[in-house]
Amino acid sequence: MASATLLKSSFLPKKSEWGATRQAAAPKPVTVSMVVRAGAYDDELVKTAKTIASPGRGILAMDESNATCGKRLASIGLENTEANRQAYRTLLVTPPGLGQYISGAILFEETLYQSTVDGKKIVDILTEQKIVPGIKVDKGLVPLTGSNNESWCQGLDGLASREAAYYQQGARFAKWRTVVSIPNGPSELAVKEAAWGLARYAAISQDNGLVPIVEPEILLDGQHGIERTFEVAQKVWAEVFFYMAENNVTFEGILLKPSMVTPGAECKDRATPEQVADYTLKLLHRRIPPAVPGIMFLSGGQSEVEATQNLNAMNQGANPWHVSFSYARALQNTCLKTWAGQPENVKAAQDALLLRAKANSLAQLGKYTSDGEAAEAKEGMFVKNYVY
Ligand code: 13P
Repeated sequence: MASATLLKSSFLPKKSEWGATRQAAAPKPVTVSMVVRAGAYDDELVKTAKTIASPGRGILAMDESNATCGKRLASIGLENTEANRQAYRTLLVTPPGLGQYISGAILFEETLYQSTVDGKKIVDILTEQKIVPGIKVDKGLVPLTGSNNESWCQGLDGLASREAAYYQQGARFAKWRTVVSIPNGPSELAVKEAAWGLARYAAISQDNGLVPIVEPEILLDGQHGIERTFEVAQKVWAEVFFYMAENNVTFEGILLKPSMVTPGAECKDRATPEQVADYTLKLLHRRIPPAVPGIMFLSGGQSEVEATQNLNAMNQGANPWHVSFSYARALQNTCLKTWAGQPENVKAAQDALLLRAKANSLAQLGKYTSDGEAAEAKEGMFVKNYVY
């Protein structure tokens, strides 16, 4: 609920303050009208965002759409049934102590309304673990007519009423992922569309009590070097913040989910974690106001270890924002393979998830070392033209 206030202010000195000898004709007073956003949920949004951005913790992204979850299940020989998705999601949310490392979990709509295999509401399990439930609210990507084979993200129609229902169901934050492709341009049109959509979504989410995670993913696809990613990321984040300001989004009540600044997946020159950290922090300092409480990176196809090392490198000094993770693949990969759909593997799979969660928790604190990491955790997960 936004309320508009008209502020009239003159930036000119009063006539009595003018120098006695000054003869210039008095210009007309300047009137500035400004909308001051005062939403019903403002205090709660700031509190939720701060809880998620708390030291040593980050987000478990487990919001794969049914189609994407099906691909994950197929990789371990399971059918894409609701029962199998429920079994897997139960495994993900129930490891004892998960909340020490994980502050928020992004769910797909089915999971928000789902119970565990033992009949407990997943939302209740998360709350008991001190993990804030979140919800993916975008409706996915479709071709952007008039662009260079690029896409745009759907989901604004009916968003307010869907979000009001998600809030009732226990969700306290939302996620909207749109993408920008470097090999396809990106065109001005695609960047503008991505930024405007994110800004509208952010304003609507705040109006309905959900902290918006703002995620313009700059895809890893391409042969370009790290400099080119840096250039595109600067452009994208400038537009995103321009439109968020225009839409009166409260920056203290949002979280960001950027891609790290890395070379394209097919670039021959690879970057060290220190180089990734240097470029990424430079980008953040140039574009992200310190009012934003948390930057929760996506993993985007990096290996589990690479994503952790890069995050650790970014936390070697003090940052104005909480710099943390919101990984899906880089938290779940070993866990999923270890489970392999077998009930007797649930404990080992949960241990694998806890291991990654703890490693990233340490990386958030800048205290991670990759000594003793398994070779499997170092395998990249990049998939060309990946859809989430
Ligand atoms: P990845 O960490 O697998 O790139 O997932 C990002 C994401 O947006 C999930 O919510």
